[in-house]
Amino acid sequence: MQAATAQVKFEHRPNANPMPQAEREKAFENLGFGTLFSDHMAVVRWSADKGWHSAEITARAPFPVDPASAVLHYAQEIFEGMKAYRTADDKVVLFRPEQNARRFGASAERMAMPVLPEDIFMQAVEELVRIDSAWIPKGEGSLYLRPFMFAAETFLGVRPAREYVFCVIASPVGPYFKGGAKAVTLWVTETYTRAAQGGTGAAKCGGNYAASLIAQAEAVGHGCDQVVFLDAAEHRWVEELGGMNVFFVMNDGSLVTPPLTGTILPGITRDSLITLARDNGITVNERPYSFDEWKADAASGKLREAFACGTAAVVAGIGTVRHAGGEFKIGNGETGFLTEKLRNDLVGIQRGKASDKHAWVHPLAGV
Ligand code: PLP
Ligand code: COI
Repeated sequence: MQAATAQVKFEHRPNANPMPQAEREKAFENLGFGTLFSDHMAVVRWSADKGWHSAEITARAPFPVDPASAVLHYAQEIFEGMKAYRTADDKVVLFRPEQNARRFGASAERMAMPVLPEDIFMQAVEELVRIDSAWIPKGEGSLYLRPFMFAAETFLGVRPAREYVFCVIASPVGPYFKGGAKAVTLWVTETYTRAAQGGTGAAKCGGNYAASLIAQAEAVGHGCDQVVFLDAAEHRWVEELGGMNVFFVMNDGSLVTPPLTGTILPGITRDSLITLARDNGITVNERPYSFDEWKADAASGKLREAFACGTAAVVAGIGTVRHAGGEFKIGNGETGFLTEKLRNDLVGIQRGKASDKHAWVHPLAGV
């Protein structure tokens, strides 16, 4: 499916009852992840006969959904996750948003959905952040942006839908993990897998997460923060976490991370950290890493640190790993030195405190 090049004009229908400032600031005092939402949303519709149309910035509100809406039956849905930050000098910035726009297009292609032109994706995100800029927390928090698209045609036949809704909502967030900066504990599932070759692992579609929930619940049941998936073919190779990519820091100072072979999500944080590490003269090996190697390297000390990374979680040290056969610690069980450094380097750029030599930061004018 070709990306249309059409531009759209967003109609603005501001929320008549925005949350009062005092109430919003009170809610900001205890930010978690994904529970509080801003006043507006961006919406663009697509139909086979009209293409992209009816773009608007409007009050955040429920969608009327027909019970025969295709998404409710066949899960034709994709999404993105990105953040708007308020920098130390009070500018509003996005981080590599064009990468999210591009990945959204790739996810759409995999799910047989129309490809939203990247400029419309950017326009929707920017206009929403502009109108809801008061919702970007100061200090450590950020405004998490969730662009998504779903099949909205009323039809039960199994084929790509002929109507879709694209929408962006915004949620002020604090830390993803309840423990804050504390190293996380992972559960390695040897029962469930996330993605197979030829499947949808590299697409950011809701179905991948639906399939991961039972494994994530198993992780929580074992007192862990996140689940780790192994490959579907051999149940041997480490792939990624339920919602994050994974890195290993070896005792020769090099990094290892699973390669992008089509079954894991090509994380923008992953890509940024590989670049930052190489900028620092660190060797990064994108290569298969087995669960057996992981256990052996943690025991021998060849593995010094490990961390998870993603937009929501940023960079989180991995302290303990549990599995059906027992558990092991990585290093002293706390966030490691290089993990901390890479996190600070990344956050420094996102927050406008460090030089942005790769031009990753996208400032928003007029906010
Ligand atoms: N892997 C999965 C399964 C994810 O859900 C995410 C989060 O978006 C990531 C990796 C990290 O991707 P990114 O760094 O682009 O947020
Ligand atoms: C993100 O990091 O943006 C994600 O989409 C992960 C999700 C599990 C919260």
